[in-house]
Amino acid sequence: MTNYILIKNKINNFNKKIQVSADKSISIRSVLLASQAVGTSKISNLLESEDVLNSLKVIKKLGINYSKVGKVYYIKGYGLNGFNIKNETVLNAGNSGTLARLILGLLVKSKSKVKLIGDKSLSKRDFHRVIKPLRLFGVNIESKNNLLPLKIQGTDFLRPIIYNEEIGSAQVKSCVIFSALNTPGITQINSKTSRNHTELFLKFLNYPIKVIKKSGYEKILVEGLKQFKGFKYEVPGDISSASFFIVLTLLSKNSKIVIKKVNVNKSRVGIISILNMMGAEIKLKKKTIYNGEEIADIHVKSKKSLNAINCPSKLNSSAIDEFLIIFLVAAKANGISRFKDLGEMNKKESKRLDLAIQFLKLIGIKVNRFKNDINIHGNPNLTLSKKFEMKNFLKDHRIFFLCCITALTLGGMWKINDKDSINTSFPDFLKTLRMIGAKIS
Ligand code: S3P
Repeated sequence: MTNYILIKNKINNFNKKIQVSADKSISIRSVLLASQAVGTSKISNLLESEDVLNSLKVIKKLGINYSKVGKVYYIKGYGLNGFNIKNETVLNAGNSGTLARLILGLLVKSKSKVKLIGDKSLSKRDFHRVIKPLRLFGVNIESKNNLLPLKIQGTDFLRPIIYNEEIGSAQVKSCVIFSALNTPGITQINSKTSRNHTELFLKFLNYPIKVIKKSGYEKILVEGLKQFKGFKYEVPGDISSASFFIVLTLLSKNSKIVIKKVNVNKSRVGIISILNMMGAEIKLKKKTIYNGEEIADIHVKSKKSLNAINCPSKLNSSAIDEFLIIFLVAAKANGISRFKDLGEMNKKESKRLDLAIQFLKLIGIKVNRFKNDINIHGNPNLTLSKKFEMKNFLKDHRIFFLCCITALTLGGMWKINDKDSINTSFPDFLKTLRMIGAKIS
């Protein structure tokens, strides 16, 4: 079977209501936390993408059973450190940095040595960021060059730590919080702001975790060794998946979209703030709080003219997975957009900052780069007519989505490789595009 798609036409104007796939970050956390609960958890609207299915496979290898009845996943946990680990267990996190970093936090007390591996992309990503705090807890880690594969062996003599998380990485913060669950006493994390789904989930479970806002960072206190019961949870839609449809609508002519029931947690909606600063008028309606997370319908309409932005870097962490698609808007805006301090983009599933620059140049946009800052010279009249093919060696799902939205809004004849990368986060992506009227072969 071919693993590419062809797009030869822009999308016609549309007016639709859609739902995007469930949130990946929350889905993975719900599976991992259910594996540590006492009793059965029931999770509905779980994202059935490869990263989440790998999370289910990983807990299964660790002795946690689950089943699916109708649309609900039932996961039976045996409490904290309730894994049943066989000797020489190998866990495969596939493409998922979140799964790989968070599961390590749940293995800090395991007596058996566990090997963690991942795919080609994950095997290039830095694990020093989690190895460092894990070793401070007293955990034994073996790894060459701080990369996967690595081996972890937990200990009964865990000690609580005070950790300064300075990257602004939710994966690192969550790995430390997960390690703290099995550690006696109180672990303190002074964390540069990043997405807070783990903290909100634990609060929803009535777990003793305290978050104290300080200027520029958060002080998080986690008391260890407190059990929590199985829970019921419905996963909301993913703003990162919604972002491609937001931009599709914004850059198309005379179109409107409502994206229903999306998670609009403040630590995730940087894209909405940024696009509204560029003149987008995106509205959040029917806001509700569900199990600690804020949910809303996102209303977007097309915009004839958008302004360049001098993007405040304090928005970086809340838009970190969305900059690829934000750059496409900057390419169509009036004037020069400036983005600063985006080095973390190069630590993702692929080197996204490098690839974004290559991509913008490919579609005829002038870009200046100064270390991790970039200036994008927008061209409101930009339309494409040539043939394009973007190489995506590490099968980065978000690079694939970016190419599709570019083809559908700017034109050109596109051959887009690695169609199967959509299964990482948004298996229904092409189906949803077709439902809106996109012609894809
Ligand atoms: C994630 C955190 C972010 C994000 C990733 C998912 C999470 O990574 O880019 O896609 O679920 O915690 P970092 O924590 O490395 O910034």
